[in-house]
Amino acid sequence: MEVMTLHVDAGSGYDIIIGSGLIDSAGKYISSALPKAKRLFVVTDSNVSPLYGARLVASLEIESFEVHTHVVPAGETSKSAENLISLWEWMTAHAITRTDAVVALGGGVVGDLAGFAASTVLRGVGLVQIPTTLLSQVDSSVGGKTAIDLSTGKNLAGTFYQPDLVLMDPETLRTLPDREFAAGMAEVVKYGCIWDAGFFGFLKARPGREALMADIAHILHTCCDIKRQVVETDEHDTGLRMILNFGHTLGHAYELSGGYARWTHGEAVAAGMVTAAKLGVALGVTGPDVPGQIEAILSPLGLPVAIDCDFSDLERAVGIDKKSAGDDVTLILLERIGAVRPMKLPKAEVLDVLAGMYRR
Ligand code: NAD
Ligand code: GLY
Repeated sequence: MEVMTLHVDAGSGYDIIIGSGLIDSAGKYISSALPKAKRLFVVTDSNVSPLYGARLVASLEIESFEVHTHVVPAGETSKSAENLISLWEWMTAHAITRTDAVVALGGGVVGDLAGFAASTVLRGVGLVQIPTTLLSQVDSSVGGKTAIDLSTGKNLAGTFYQPDLVLMDPETLRTLPDREFAAGMAEVVKYGCIWDAGFFGFLKARPGREALMADIAHILHTCCDIKRQVVETDEHDTGLRMILNFGHTLGHAYELSGGYARWTHGEAVAAGMVTAAKLGVALGVTGPDVPGQIEAILSPLGLPVAIDCDFSDLERAVGIDKKSAGDDVTLILLERIGAVRPMKLPKAEVLDVLAGMYRR
């Protein structure tokens, strides 16, 4: 088994290990990263548990860990305060200690929820992320953001808490529904847009899931390496890290317009990146060929390149977005593919330009 490793210099420092079939050796990697851990608390969801739960637990038990497993229903609604409390009570009922660890097996929902629980129970225990969706492998498992959703909005309570280890087995992506694979690809393409034109070209030359899966370990490694560099520079999201939000402000408007049910996050981000590129062209920042280049890579993946929404949703996304302060909003724009440019602009000007684009 060929294994690729990246080291992230954030928190107390941790490895991201990428390798086919890695789930079956998870116990070995965890005992080496967390030598004092005796009990492991596996958190997974109702789709992932029957696919990979038994294999993971077997690999942990071979290393003599005492393993406890908690399965939450699949889906965003599991990122709730109720589930967080259930996890705290479950772990403490099984006598978790500060040297034991939580193991998050699943997509971003499980990773965010289990990460939050790990960061808060006993004021912090060990955390291992084993992401099984493309989105969680290239984005949410790396960088230490944890969260739950509140009735007032998504991801409104959370912590920065870096994991002790991230293990990714690209083979787990084979069971992912096409729509979830495409959603993850939106984030993959984002890294090419903001950081690496060569990687963008590499992706463009591989239209379709099969061609991408042939080089998936390289794709995961490239994305995680870009995220690593951003997170090492700005762990707590006070500066550079905002570039990871390219396409997300407008994506947020599309998610809102579909009531968070019609569009996946990745689909909304895909259309958001194209609209952000068009906005950049209208503002004279972005090269005129850029929107077409992004569309040409997203469309064959089955991702939307435009989403209709009420203007009020755009106003809300620009106005209440976490990146905004006062009368200005910081938009993440591109100069060209691979060259990002955050720009602070008056909200009114941005909404004027968007109004022109949407009412044309
Ligand atoms: P998800 O966790 O809901 O997973 C998507 C679906 O795929 C679920 O139904 C899940 O059960 C299923 N699934 C997972 N792995 C599978 C596999 N290998 N085979 C078959 N089915 C599988 O969603 P996601 O897209 O992974 O993550 C979205 C979440 O991540 C959101 O809550 C978002 O807020 C969060 N997020 C967090 C960060 C961060 O930095 N912490 C970054 C981006 C997104
Ligand atoms: N997903 C954005 C971040 O980790 O900052």
